[in-house]
This record gives sequence, structure tokens and C-alpha cells, in this order.
Amino acid sequence: KIKRQTAVEIRNRKGSDPLVCLTAYTTPVARLTDAHCDVLLVGDSLGMVVYGFDSTLPVTLDMMIRHGQAVMRGSQQALVVVDLPFGSYEAGPQAAFDAAAQVMSETGAGAVKLEGGVAMARTIEFLTARGIPVMAHVGLTPQAVNAFGGYSVQGRGAAAQKVMDDAVATARAGAFAVVLEKIPAVLADRITEEINVPTIGIGASAGCDGQILVVDDMLGLFTDFRPKFVQRYGELGEAADKAIADYAADVRARRFPGPEHVFGDEAPKPKG
Ligand code: KIV
Ligand code: NA
Repeated sequence: KIKRQTAVEIRNRKGSDPLVCLTAYTTPVARLTDAHCDVLLVGDSLGMVVYGFDSTLPVTLDMMIRHGQAVMRGSQQALVVVDLPFGSYEAGPQAAFDAAAQVMSETGAGAVKLEGGVAMARTIEFLTARGIPVMAHVGLTPQAVNAFGGYSVQGRGAAAQKVMDDAVATARAGAFAVVLEKIPAVLADRITEEINVPTIGIGASAGCDGQILVVDDMLGLFTDFRPKFVQRYGELGEAADKAIADYAADVRARRFPGPEHVFGDEAPKPKG
């Protein structure tokens, strides 16, 4: 049995070789990604990517737990991190602990992630003191879309200090890594230099200690919109579209099923 990476090992890779992270929501995708990744994030982006919501806000704790279980079943060596969904942790450290403990005990994942900086520092401290490794997430935090008024770049100009303060606060509070989303590259580099735990960039900088993408984005499976920070490493959406069109044409022409796909009336003879 392969030993799974731990939050402690991930934290200790600060400043060493880049951490490879992807989201995963299902067992088959966990199987495909596990060997290549240090971290598999069961992101609440599944609300948009898997369930078709127009934001991450409707995602529930129960959904996160189901998908966390699926990703754990499909992976062996990557650290699995499960997002705490909107509404499950913001009220205070106790609420966050209850949600995180349920995620940890019901999925077996090695850590949780939550959004927020200075405002979440006390919560991060509370969780880490009680045995729950926390990955933080600052910059553009999609659960705050209504407060931001959209998904625009955060931390430009005078707003840089706030993002810096948020990252520093989460690292000091005991986060083992910090996701930096959609901030200027120079700011991501300064934060990476400033804090003593790994930064994981998404729309941040090549200088971060690691990178993460939404797996359906990089595979070309999720095509509703395409952020600038997404590089398409595959066009699986196009491939799927062609496969499905071929199937439909074959059914309409009665080319499928073929003789090799159907059953005879007689049971096969016993071997030997
Ligand atoms: O939900 C998610 O996929 C995330 C990553 C983009 C960091 O939070
Ligand atoms: Na998320």
C-alpha cells in the first residue's frame, strides 16, 4: 500500500520543487490524476463544474462529503483536501470545527480548505490546534462573489496590502499552505517570499511554490467560460462531442449495436 502525502510533508516543501495540484470530484478522475499530483482538491468549484450552479454558493457540506469520499476511493498517494462550502464555517471557529470534523471523519481526507484571510485567522488557529490541517485561500475568493461584485483581479495597486495581510495572517494562524487566486504576479511573488508555507497559485505567478487548476478547465471539458489563467492541456470536450455525435448517427442508421454487441439464444458451451 502506497503511503499518502501529508499536510506536514506539503508544508515542508516550501521553496523546494513545485507542488502539482489539481481539483478532482469523482473516483475516475482521482484515478487518472493521483499518480501525477501532490494534492487533489475536492473544490467547491464542483458546484459550477459538476452541478451547473452559476456560483459556488449553493454547494452543501453533504455534497462535499460525497465527492470527498469518491476522490478518496480513487486515490492512493496524493493529499486529498476538501473545500468547506459557503455557510458551513464563517459563523465562527466552533461552526468551522463541526463542519471540518465531519468532513475529516466521513471522508478520511487529510485536510480542509477555507476562504478568507485576516477574518478567518482565529478559525484557522482553532482548527489546527485541534488536529485539522487547513489550507487557506486568499485573493479572489469565489464564495465572496456577491461582496466583490464579480470575479475580477484582486490586490491591484493599493489593494495589494490587504491580500498580503490576509496571506500573512493565515500562515501565522497555522495554515499549511495558501492558495493565491487571481492576483498580480508581482504580488504573488512578494507573498511567496514573505510567508513560510507554500503558496499555491491559480492566476497568480510561476514563482509560487505550487500551481492548481480546475481539472475540467485544463482538459477542455468545462467550456462555459474560460479564465485567462487556464491553459488547455486537452480538448476532451471536443472529443466527447464527436464521440456522442458518432453514437447518435450509428443508432439512427441501425449500425449500433453490431453483431459483436448482442447475445445469441444459446448459452456458451462449457470450456474443456
Ligand atoms: O474550488 C476550487 O476548485 C478551488 C481552486 C480553484 C483553488 O478553490
Ligand atoms: Na473552492
